[in-house]
Amino acid sequence: MQSLRLLLMTQWLLLFLPICTASYILKDDYGNDERFFDKFDFFTEADPTRGYVSYVNRSTAKLTSLISASNGSVYLGVDNKNPAWGPGRRSVRLTSHQSYNHGLIILDLAHMPGTVCGTWPAFWMIGTVPPTAGEIDIIEGINEGPLNQVTLHTNQDGCIVKNSGFSGSLGRQNCYIYSTGPAGAGGCGIVDPYPESYGGIFNAVGGGVYATEWTSDVIRVWRFPRSKIPGNMQSGSPDPSTWGTPVASFSGSCNIDAQFNNLHLVFDITFCGDWAGGAWASSRLCAPKAPTCFEYVRNNPRAFEESYWRVNSLKVYQRT
Ligand SMILES: *[C@@H]1O[C@H](CO)[C@@H](O)[C@H](O)[C@H]1NC(C)=O
Ligand SMILES: *[C@@H]1O[C@H](CO)[C@@H](O)[C@H](O)[C@H]1NC(C)=O
Repeated sequence: MQSLRLLLMTQWLLLFLPICTASYILKDDYGNDERFFDKFDFFTEADPTRGYVSYVNRSTAKLTSLISASNGSVYLGVDNKNPAWGPGRRSVRLTSHQSYNHGLIILDLAHMPGTVCGTWPAFWMIGTVPPTAGEIDIIEGINEGPLNQVTLHTNQDGCIVKNSGFSGSLGRQNCYIYSTGPAGAGGCGIVDPYPESYGGIFNAVGGGVYATEWTSDVIRVWRFPRSKIPGNMQSGSPDPSTWGTPVASFSGSCNIDAQFNNLHLVFDITFCGDWAGGAWASSRLCAPKAPTCFEYVRNNPRAFEESYWRVNSLKVYQRT
């Protein structure tokens, strides 16, 4: 009897142990007041993607209202009042002090940069010396492009992802950054098929949540409209196993732990540059607005009134 009870108890423990150890606990809450900015560096060097942008420091950003915190959210924007000068239109690029290995990153946005010609906004993760530690682009788009694209870039060859386990549509399967020639051009990307994933339409439906899970086996991204945020996420006990099919999932012939490490969180809004500038001439909506992306961005400050992030919350969870 005793031993049977012990046996039953052991089985019970074995049954529940994996569930307990698998849960996520809150590691970093970036908050939604002025202290949010204490947790980031303000990058002020020339844009590595050759954008027509001038990234300003925290004091200049505050003085010129490019950053603020109010009403339970944090604002990160661009100069939408003055013609641009010098290296380009004023904007901010924030890099988290904290770097991560694995985790669950949950970003609740009231607003993301709108769908605006000349812009190239992104919320992403990168190592200290890019791109040697890999790169995870969670939210990214350019010009009038209406859809979000989730992309991985690896600095070493040998990361080929499979085309299953997600609802988006996969472009290239090779994540190696040099796979198509110049650095940055290569990468494996998954496009979210729904316009509410990005820009103006995302904002029109009241924003929503992007959740990114990064483990040794897989990197996955879910997007939730505000009305469909999972209960376990709202209650602070997020459980991705209950969230259904993600928009993007990268797994397959890829040693994730060898390719991605010590990544920082980054928010930025740049203009033109390699991608948005490179695509200007072939954009049916943008090209007629000005001969070059640079001229459009320089002369039309009011065009960028929708170019801002409004963050309700940013939380990083890790396994217990
Ligand atoms: C911020 O940038 C402004 C303008 O370039 C400069 O005058 C100021 O010294 C900088 N502040 C800090 C704290 O670096
Ligand atoms: C804060 O919220 C109030 C009420 O919704 C609104 O009137 C006000 O404009 C908001 N302030 C900012 C800076 O967004």
